[in-house]
Amino acid sequence: MLRPVLSIGLVSATVLLGGMALTGSASAEPGAAPAQSQAAKYPADSLRALGDRVGLRIGTAVNTDELGSNADYTRITAEQFSSVTPENVMKWQLVEPTRGTYDWAAADRLVAFAKKNKQLVRGHTLVWHSQLPTWLSSDGYTTTLSNDELKALLKKHIQDQVKHFRGDIWQWDVVNEAFDDDGQPRQTIWYKAWGGLGYIADAFRWAREADPKALLFYNDYNLEFTGAKSNAVYDLVRSLKAQRVPIDGVGFQGHLDTQYGFPDLQNNLQRFADLGLKVAETEVDVRTFTQAPPNENTPTNPLAGYAQESYWSRALKACLAVRECISFTPWGFGDTYSWIPGWFDNPQEGAALLYDGNLQPKSQYYVLQQDLALAAGAPHRSGPGAGRN
Ligand code: XIL
Repeated sequence: MLRPVLSIGLVSATVLLGGMALTGSASAEPGAAPAQSQAAKYPADSLRALGDRVGLRIGTAVNTDELGSNADYTRITAEQFSSVTPENVMKWQLVEPTRGTYDWAAADRLVAFAKKNKQLVRGHTLVWHSQLPTWLSSDGYTTTLSNDELKALLKKHIQDQVKHFRGDIWQWDVVNEAFDDDGQPRQTIWYKAWGGLGYIADAFRWAREADPKALLFYNDYNLEFTGAKSNAVYDLVRSLKAQRVPIDGVGFQGHLDTQYGFPDLQNNLQRFADLGLKVAETEVDVRTFTQAPPNENTPTNPLAGYAQESYWSRALKACLAVRECISFTPWGFGDTYSWIPGWFDNPQEGAALLYDGNLQPKSQYYVLQQDLALAAGAPHRSGPGAGRN
């Protein structure tokens, strides 16, 4: 929006944005006001402002227990990010803890926060084997309910939830993690009830009916790496497209770890995009060992930090390099709130996010800020002997 309004041709976007933020009312065109009030609301060097310049939404998972009660957490959520994902509160376990009784309160609060702060919402997630209410299944793989009951329940769940948030969700993670690490279909209660992967096509069709405007995503981890799992999901979504199932995108979770090599992320994003899909990095974090046994990756060794900076930077740049990659979402932003230490604890891992335990930005944050600034174009040299006088 800024460029046409100011219409000063080839001057880099860095200059334009800086000018906007400093001068505020530099442009006098009707319709410019919202951009100005937004610029006043969050810093010109925030991740969200820098992402705006290349049309990339920078998101975060949000812990709704902190939102509103923790001032720093709340301010950073609003200032730095242009998209939010509920880390937990749209999961089935939380929206329908008792069969037949919905509790939308926490998720509604996040949606209202997002509207107020001009953020889009990634809805997460409708069909999953994890974090199901116990009345449905205690482990996602077994249940006492019949196949017919399960089919009716999943349909109602998708219809009710998507309708409840209709018009408020940018991207829905309709199906999450349907494949095992080796690329075999995960033998969940849904897979067993349908006797195959047919539940996925049904889920997308029900979601489309309930909110025709939301972008519908398949979301999974380790798609970043070329291999059996990424190939299996690729084959699935290609066949869904061929059957005209309404799928719009694929989410690459991006839970990275410095103990493994950096994945072939850009090529994988691109080959999914080439199927005619949007892609997104939906849950990025970069974990590393944080405790004994000490090794070359412990944070006491600066190399661990360098590896993390590099992984963050390459993950972002993979998205920037693929036109169809529409959002880049870290899975939270303060190491205290990260799911990693609780989940990967033998050996202990952590330090996976952009902000430390005191909500101070880490070097990883500054690397992304710089990458985003450069993505819109480095400022041209000027002065005697330089490219332009
Ligand atoms: C995680 C949350 O971060 C934790 O708070 C919760 O206890 C477990 O789930 N893949 C996903 C996310 O799709 O929903 C998971 O989130 C992390 C892995």
